[in-house]
Amino acid sequence: MRILAIGDINGRPGRRMVETHLPRLILEHRIDFSLANVENAADGFGITPDLTEQLLAHGLDCLTSGNHIYDKQEIIDYLAAQPRLLRPENYPTGAAGSGVYVGATASGTPVAVVNLMGRIFMPPCDDPFRTADRVLDRLSGLARIIIVDMHAEATSEKYAMGYHLTGRVSAVVGTHTHVQTADETILAGGTAYISDLGMTGPYDSVIGIEKSLALKKFLTGMPVRFSVARRDPRLCGVVIEVDDATGKARRIERIQVRPDAADEAGQDDAQSV
Ligand code: FE2
Repeated sequence: MRILAIGDINGRPGRRMVETHLPRLILEHRIDFSLANVENAADGFGITPDLTEQLLAHGLDCLTSGNHIYDKQEIIDYLAAQPRLLRPENYPTGAAGSGVYVGATASGTPVAVVNLMGRIFMPPCDDPFRTADRVLDRLSGLARIIIVDMHAEATSEKYAMGYHLTGRVSAVVGTHTHVQTADETILAGGTAYISDLGMTGPYDSVIGIEKSLALKKFLTGMPVRFSVARRDPRLCGVVIEVDDATGKARRIERIQVRPDAADEAGQDDAQSV
């Protein structure tokens, strides 16, 4: 089975890349199950119910998130009714939503997605390592193919999670930094790993934000209202091949899609929301 994991979708440029390129990627790579991190999909901050429905309609099977999941107030009630949109499982008890989804491919093979968040340079949350152990106990007998989105700032914490879970899950993919790393590998034990999938959004930016606004904040320390940049949109992620019978990863391939000139020109007219 082949799985497509897409990195952080940022604003309209990111959503447009998914809409334009996902159907072709699914066909070309013979994808059976796809997921994407969507916590920045609505103007760079959070996700709305409408955008969730749109992204699922484009062909994504599961959507993960992180520290921006609750940025849009209207997502809180929606989370209870939408099992395919996850928040980090190690949020404190009582947080709306769930961090675990068990779905299936078109041919009926169960696939589980687990969303975790790191603790280094991130908002306070529970221990992601012990949380992962408890989740894997719950998933025993439900799914052999398990994909973990480790939403974290520190590469060290992401590698630690990869080694903590190797042999027990099919893949650990990092998100949050918006910069794709070139360290994709199969860890001893059979778990596909990459420290960060990279951003699906505008690259002529400071990790998705309009450069002038990000610079103003760094240079003055004053509050600045951020907006998503527009130029140089790309789609980043990985394709992972997994043995259906064992859940072990066989192969991981990094992808980065850049649109042709016509697509990019169209982005100039796009609203940044
Ligand atoms: Fe994040």
